[in-house]
Amino acid sequence: MSADYQVIDAVAVITLNNPPVNGLGLATRTAAVEGIRKAQDDAAVQAIVITGAGKAFSGGADIKEFNSPKALTEPTLHTLIRTAEECSKPVVAAIHSVCMGGGLELALGCHYRVALPGAQIALPEVKLGLLPGAGGTQRLPRVLGLETALNMIVSGTPAASEKLPALFDEVLPAGTDFAGLVQAAVAFANRIADVRPLPKIRERKVDYPNSEAFLQFSRNTVKSVAGPFPAPLECLETVAASVTMKFEDGLAFERERFLHLMQTTESKALRHAFFAEREASKVPDVPGDTPTRKIERAAVIGAGTMGGGIAMNFANAGIPVTLLETKQEALDKGLATIRKNYENTLKKGKLTQEKFDQRLALITGTLDYAEIGQADIVIEAVFEEMGVKEAVFRKLDEVMKQGAILATNTSTLDVDKIAACTSRPHDVIGTHFFSPANVMKLLEIVRGKATGSDVLATALALSKKLKKTGVVSGVCDGFIGNRMIEQYSRQAGFLLDEGCLPEQVDQAMEKFGFAMGPFRMGDLAGNDIGWYIRKRRAIEKPEIQYSKTADLLCELGRFGQKTGGGWYDYKPGDRKPYPNQQVNDMIVQHSADLGIERRPIADQEIVERLVYALVNEGAHILEEGIALRASDIDMVYLTGYGFPLFRGGPMFYADTVGLPNVLATIERLAKGRHGDAWRPAPLLVQLAAEGKGFNSR
Ligand code: NAI
Repeated sequence: MSADYQVIDAVAVITLNNPPVNGLGLATRTAAVEGIRKAQDDAAVQAIVITGAGKAFSGGADIKEFNSPKALTEPTLHTLIRTAEECSKPVVAAIHSVCMGGGLELALGCHYRVALPGAQIALPEVKLGLLPGAGGTQRLPRVLGLETALNMIVSGTPAASEKLPALFDEVLPAGTDFAGLVQAAVAFANRIADVRPLPKIRERKVDYPNSEAFLQFSRNTVKSVAGPFPAPLECLETVAASVTMKFEDGLAFERERFLHLMQTTESKALRHAFFAEREASKVPDVPGDTPTRKIERAAVIGAGTMGGGIAMNFANAGIPVTLLETKQEALDKGLATIRKNYENTLKKGKLTQEKFDQRLALITGTLDYAEIGQADIVIEAVFEEMGVKEAVFRKLDEVMKQGAILATNTSTLDVDKIAACTSRPHDVIGTHFFSPANVMKLLEIVRGKATGSDVLATALALSKKLKKTGVVSGVCDGFIGNRMIEQYSRQAGFLLDEGCLPEQVDQAMEKFGFAMGPFRMGDLAGNDIGWYIRKRRAIEKPEIQYSKTADLLCELGRFGQKTGGGWYDYKPGDRKPYPNQQVNDMIVQHSADLGIERRPIADQEIVERLVYALVNEGAHILEEGIALRASDIDMVYLTGYGFPLFRGGPMFYADTVGLPNVLATIERLAKGRHGDAWRPAPLLVQLAAEGKGFNSR
């Protein structure tokens, strides 16, 4: 049973009991319906209270049942709500902590609602590209009014129970505990036990003078902020139906639009991302109960672009951190940048003075390794050169206490080789932050061949503490994200050689939904980073071809925004790109030097070449076991590279296009210029032949 039943003072108390948040899965729904029926049939029961055990009244639908036929098996959520509403004895919802989605819809079907203050009330379905499909869009406006209900449903944002007095018959005094809530709900139920007819929200009307004008105004606003997502507008139209239609018709309309949204790619993509984020923290051979090490003190080596941002992450999480540099000037510069970043946040009002002081106080600097020896984790973020990193790790091996985790922020270098310079390779791991490290959500956690399970489990737990999405990668050049982006950037370069200019490529990718096209991204990150990597590759893997345009750009000293210009020009304090004639001439001249006749290139070709370059490399990465699952690759791209969320990540996107279609395009490209870059990944070929997808292997 996943709901408990007891009778207190002639009131049946049904307690939903499906940890962690009393999701309304089939077993819980069945138990709740049986409880209501039992109470109805028991002459000794006057009224019913429904509440939730543990951490929630109910968080809504059981996510384990998403996309499964169980969600549609009787009793459905509709049936449960209808059973409560049609019960001949009063049903009181006793709400605390969390009352969201289907949980709130159930409460709206009850005759009365009693709540603790501070309970989080929401219909967040829009965040998964859906709308509340169990009467929420019809009942909430009838009780809270059109405007409040519309805002809640279109935004999905929670409100505290005490801020919604119209929703509740009683909000109890602050400090009341769960036992007090049940006691108060039972007392309330006894007080109203004889009141008839039973109040039903469905029988109310939504009063809003001139509602059509308000709805039209809201339509325009919602359209302008919804971007490519259809759900917010669908939410609005179903809420509008609560004004214009009879309750039953509105309910049928809500159902129809809900089922429509369930089938949209945008909702599928959002649900995919939702599950992908949860899956990413699971590593098959590192069970969830693997012991973790304590992280109470941290150190960061190198106070440059990344080191400073990484240190801020620790301070933001309340963990003291020491930055180590070789020279006082570099240390001062790094600490000053951190202070400036926090000052900007303070000025914007996003940080209180108290928090500002606390965070700065948690960050200290040193030039002396002796001062960091007691840290529980040290993250190295020095220059991307093996020799420098090896020297740092040899030193860390000497000074760090036993049990400390030794992490590297390298973007491309071999973590196993770095680990091999120490006498404790099991303590070594890669923690690859993304720039700006204090902002970007992604943390690639690189598992070396000797990395201990507890070290990996600790890094995963730390990523949560730092509010990052941790994704585990095996060791290879560039790990998941940068290894794939290299193929993407190579194609972007070839497109310049063949006929594009940077702005055409960027615009095509931004129209596809990327936050930034490849050339704007290069200007932001610094084109010199890729230049350095290509120089290394030219020695290690001379067979790999690149367009020379990026090197020519760097030879002009145009590294990007930090030098005032790269592929584009920039005005001080403005990130807007302005095309540069000299750069464009250089690109055209380079084509001539190569003997290439420039041709018009359609946006579709640009998108296919760049995105399928990611997909094909992603398939290699999956096949080699560098990524544990396709959805991990999608998480890397959604949280670290600005891949459009409504497309669900490169691997999910390929699945929606259909792998046979993706493969056919790749095979066609393999016959063109630089065809060697289009060797189809065997896994792609295999899945396409089997009619499967990357995410449904
Ligand atoms: P950076 O050049 O801004 O900073 C490196 C800092 O390390 C400098 O302040 C330098 O004085 C210091 N340093 C050099 N040798 C040192 C030593 N032996 N001991 C102590 N400090 C030393 O470099 P950035 O961009 O912060 O990169 C650092 C690492 O992070 C590299 O491995 C890089 O590949 C990686 N990374 C960089 C990203 C980026 O977008 N910049 C993104 C993700 C990773």
